[in-house]
Amino acid sequence: MLMDICYGGVPSKIPNNSLGIRGYDYVEFYVGSAKMVAYWHAKAMGLDIKGYAGPETGVKDRISYYLEGVQGLKIVITSALTPDNYEVSGFVTRHGDGVKRWSVEVNDVREVFSKAVKNGAIPMKQPKKYEDDMGYVEEAAIRLYDDAEIVFVNRDNYKGIFRPGFGEPVQNIQIQRQETGLKFIDHIVGNVHINEMDYWANYINSALDFETFLYFGPGDISTQYSALLSKVVRSKDDIIKNPINEPYEGARLSQIQEFTMEYKGSGIQHIAIATKDIVSTIRALRANGVEFLWVPETYYEELAKKDFGLEENIDDLRELGILCDVEGEGYLLQLFTKPIGDRPTFFYEIIQRKKGAKGFGQGNFQALFESIERDQERRGNLIPMS
Ligand code: FE2
Repeated sequence: MLMDICYGGVPSKIPNNSLGIRGYDYVEFYVGSAKMVAYWHAKAMGLDIKGYAGPETGVKDRISYYLEGVQGLKIVITSALTPDNYEVSGFVTRHGDGVKRWSVEVNDVREVFSKAVKNGAIPMKQPKKYEDDMGYVEEAAIRLYDDAEIVFVNRDNYKGIFRPGFGEPVQNIQIQRQETGLKFIDHIVGNVHINEMDYWANYINSALDFETFLYFGPGDISTQYSALLSKVVRSKDDIIKNPINEPYEGARLSQIQEFTMEYKGSGIQHIAIATKDIVSTIRALRANGVEFLWVPETYYEELAKKDFGLEENIDDLRELGILCDVEGEGYLLQLFTKPIGDRPTFFYEIIQRKKGAKGFGQGNFQALFESIERDQERRGNLIPMS
């Protein structure tokens, strides 16, 4: 029942986990040009630019754009203004555009941070209040993977835009687009090095009092060439879900190894964003110019044979390339974008959970794996393992 209150990552303000985590808060990207990447998120993904930080707001070494979806989705896109802002410029030089941090809204930043560190988390930022005349936002951070962070944030005492340092967007441009209805973060996925999946699963479970929810072992997700292992760790009330993928041995280079090779480290592979109507969301995203992974026609021939109470029109799913996986009494509708930047690393997933489906759809996971592998081959990276 509590799952219904908090289900799907929307901050409930009524945490039902031991650390007082309310749900996902913002995700911050470090990129080469915040203005361009923010424009793409507004024009193609249909998010609204709600805030801006830069020289006009007293911030001298970086530019940040703050964007929102329709129900709690918060994205920050930041680039360095000067090369000596090495935190941002160094990240982009090494990894390309990517996710630096994801955050959870908590009741008490100091308490969560101190419990997490006591339970093995690596501290990155001590609890700190960011203040201006609109109040304050408190934050702390622990390390995640090679070069990312999980941030604990509380903004109960702040009335301004996003955080001190942010103000109204300086440009007020009208963007022609179709509305996409992207609502909130459903889950965030990391790709790690060989033998690191258990390390990071145990780290998160211990630091945040999470649990391992699903495990895809050898042979569960594979092709004739390559394979992966995956563990899903989640908060015990299911509001935060964090799958972790690791390469598994195969004849050729695993796509998880392609990611760590191109990203130059372990990091965030994709963010899944929930919608209440995936057919109209994908139709709008495609009209706005978002590119998606390709699904073979045979997928829908197999789907048509299953009788599970599909409420959508299968012709719409086929036309738009939407994946559908049956899970218990419910089913999952999903689709994955192509990598959004220059390197074949980060991408978005669009997801709609129907009739209480809570998992990750092994069939869809396999379809994603095969689809990425087709693109991996085009890039010349499906190379034999010596
Ligand atoms: Fe996913």
